[in-house]
Amino acid sequence: MSKKRDRWDSSSSSEEEKEEATPKPLAASKNNSATKATTTTTSSNKFPLHNPLLQGCRSVYDTYDRIDKVSEGSYGIVWKARDLATQEIVALKQIKFEQPELMEQQGFPLTALREISTLLQLQHESIVGVKEMVVGSGDDKVFMVMEFMEKDLQQAIKDTRQYPNVLRQAELKGIMKQILEGVAYMHEHWMLHRDLKTSNILVHSTGRVALCDLGLARRYEVPAQPLTLLVVTLWYRAPELLMGETKYGPPIDVWSLGCIFGELILAGEALMQGQGELDQLDKLFQMVGLPTEESWPDYDQLPHASMFRWKKQTSKDNDNRSAPLLAKKFPINAPPHFKQSFLDGNGYDLLSKLLALDPKQRITAKEALAHPYFHTGVPSELPVLF
Ligand SMILES: Nc1ncnc2c1ncn2[C@@H]1O[C@H](COP(=O)(O)OP(=O)(O)O)[C@@H](O)[C@H]1O
Ligand SMILES: [Mg+2]
Repeated sequence: MSKKRDRWDSSSSSEEEKEEATPKPLAASKNNSATKATTTTTSSNKFPLHNPLLQGCRSVYDTYDRIDKVSEGSYGIVWKARDLATQEIVALKQIKFEQPELMEQQGFPLTALREISTLLQLQHESIVGVKEMVVGSGDDKVFMVMEFMEKDLQQAIKDTRQYPNVLRQAELKGIMKQILEGVAYMHEHWMLHRDLKTSNILVHSTGRVALCDLGLARRYEVPAQPLTLLVVTLWYRAPELLMGETKYGPPIDVWSLGCIFGELILAGEALMQGQGELDQLDKLFQMVGLPTEESWPDYDQLPHASMFRWKKQTSKDNDNRSAPLLAKKFPINAPPHFKQSFLDGNGYDLLSKLLALDPKQRITAKEALAHPYFHTGVPSELPVLF
């Protein structure tokens, strides 16, 4: 019965959700009675000043009313909610505790801590904004309050931009420009995202696009220090990661951006859909060509290089295989019957530079923003995704 009272319990049924949908004061729990006293709103003071350093995080019961579950992923549940004081719609990401009973020994989940601290440090139009942290009745119920964005990019393209209504080139530019600005900002602030993909990019009805899900984000250094290889969803994973390079840096995010750009052009179909790491490498080499002395001179020194026994290519061999799949899949100036967006020569050039095999030769996010693609031809526009 006590469970039913908790409208922020993720296991409660939809009926209970409906029943609890209208804002009503809830019995104060052990630790929200203290916060309540310091954050009470009055009609003359709708936006109480709350200092979490002095007063602790506010209680979710006093501050937000849940509307709907948006998604349940690996690291948390995302809710659509309403701010009880301002009526503003927000998103609450509930931190998932795998084994709440082990919380005392293992502490707060590292991915959640990373995400919160990174998002609080980074403030940019193209990165989802975080407002505050709020807590529930127990130590194991913690929420990150974010601005609400209607959809993620993957969903938006699937829902509204299928053939023949594929993204126009101006919109493609508008989306890529915003994503690149967010990533360039992160890299300038010594942060890697490490999980860029279309479902980790949010879109607003205004056409604004913002990066989210910074659970794998972390600081990088120059010269690069060894980092874990267990990052980036397989289809968006850079060749150097697949080849075991632990001293990686910003180019891994740029590779993911190349995959995202391709996916947007193909109306939502992921570019390289490997079934495992080896298959992913195979698909990737088919797409952009096998490494050569020119395309990736350091390739031989990579930890996993000896595990693969293909014959070393010369650039001539690659030419004979004709342009790899990339050129076939993305014909320049092709008419729209390919069920994909129009791409001009500059667009193709940018795509191939984002997907350069050698991380040292790969274009940076900042350089990509200066690429002629964004400065010639049709100007960029905010996308219409609703
Ligand atoms: N601020 C937000 N507004 C609206 N929807 C969001 C927001 N943040 C996340 N989502 C949705 O929830 C999904 C999961 O969130 P995400 O932060 O990517 O967590 P996970 O670690 O579970 O992948 C996203 O793909 C997106 O669809
Ligand atoms: Mg995600």
